[in-house]
Amino acid sequence: MAHGADALATASGNRRRNHTMFNRNRMKIGIFASNCSSGMAATKVPERWNASWANNVKLAQMADEAGIECMVPVGRWKGYGGETDFEGSTFETITWACGLLAVTRNITVFGTVHCPLIHPVLAAKQAVTADHVGQGRFGLNIVCGWNQDEFNMFGARQQDHDRRYDYGREWWEVIQRIWSGEGPFDYHGEFFHLHGVIGHPAPWGGERPIMMNAGSSPAGRRFAALHSDFHFDQIFFLEQAAERVNQTRTLARQHGRPIQVFTSGYVVCRPTAKEARDYFNYFGVEHADWGAVDRLIELAMGAGGSRSISPEVVKMAKERFAGGYGGVPFVGDPDTVAAEFKRISDYGFDGVAIGFVNFLDELPYFCQEVLPRLERLGLREPLR
Ligand SMILES: Cc1cc2nc3c(=O)[nH]c(=O)nc-3n(C[C@H](O)[C@H](O)[C@H](O)COP(=O)(O)O)c2cc1C
Repeated sequence: MAHGADALATASGNRRRNHTMFNRNRMKIGIFASNCSSGMAATKVPERWNASWANNVKLAQMADEAGIECMVPVGRWKGYGGETDFEGSTFETITWACGLLAVTRNITVFGTVHCPLIHPVLAAKQAVTADHVGQGRFGLNIVCGWNQDEFNMFGARQQDHDRRYDYGREWWEVIQRIWSGEGPFDYHGEFFHLHGVIGHPAPWGGERPIMMNAGSSPAGRRFAALHSDFHFDQIFFLEQAAERVNQTRTLARQHGRPIQVFTSGYVVCRPTAKEARDYFNYFGVEHADWGAVDRLIELAMGAGGSRSISPEVVKMAKERFAGGYGGVPFVGDPDTVAAEFKRISDYGFDGVAIGFVNFLDELPYFCQEVLPRLERLGLREPLR
């Protein structure tokens, strides 16, 4: 399966900006959701993630040192309740990215922006500011919205499902025109009527930041193929993954666009498979915050929610929601976890953004045991 990274590297020659995202690693790794209390894991265990600023800095520096490609935050405005109020405490993602970019050297740090909630003139400038802080290492992750409960805090109503992506297209067009340094322009679209728009400085180095979008419905995937450099997808039925990634990539190619496809997953890696399974049962079953999981599912399946979470998905994947938002489970000893990454790569994915119950406690073992195995499998190159 041809990977997007190869095509992008060729298309853009020696890219200086966001260079980790265009390196030769066929399986790129991101750190997901560390800006949120409990990260990806809806669990009550006491060692669950404390998303303090100090912890985020330590984690970003650790990931940077290990050659991990990116940090991907979750755009979240309100917790999911349950006993822990899962993700009730979160850092806003562009300001979070600014801080992390200032204390790291290579890693790309994304900001995750709800395009219906943040005006593009403001978002363009926020992103450029972060991009200058990081000298070309900021990435924009666009989310078009799904959780009306959060939108209510802004007094905003969501568009019908597929219309959200039409809105996203105009929003992204405005951002790109601002970033291009074009003189004052007027914009008359369906959703935006803007006059004399301008924004300086341009992104760092004169090339725009990379853009990813997260959305897994047909409309979300189409948006990615037509507009995004990276698609952040979620696939519950992995047997369908290869065909689906291929469809996204083929559609992008038909529009002359290379694309990389990422997904998300949670890692429980221990010396033996039994230890890993036992720990998953401990945090993700016996001590799962089922109240929060139920609320997440209820919101996602409610009117105006996601098109991707069906009753079949819930039945099949409820424990995966406790483990990490329904992402791919990487649970086992280091050989098994590495083999699972290989499987995901074989489906055509270019990267996975991962979470741990406690990122700082668990990432070192992952880097020590799994990354070298991925190198031996030909999925990653050793750090130089
Ligand atoms: C991997 C992944 C990550 C996402 N991250 C966020 C996020 O940080 N904040 C958010 O509000 N929505 C997030 N979403 C939700 C999507 O942006 C989208 O609103 C949702 O999937 C519903 O749209 P869809 O039916 O087109 O998939 C994410 C979705 C996926 C698949």
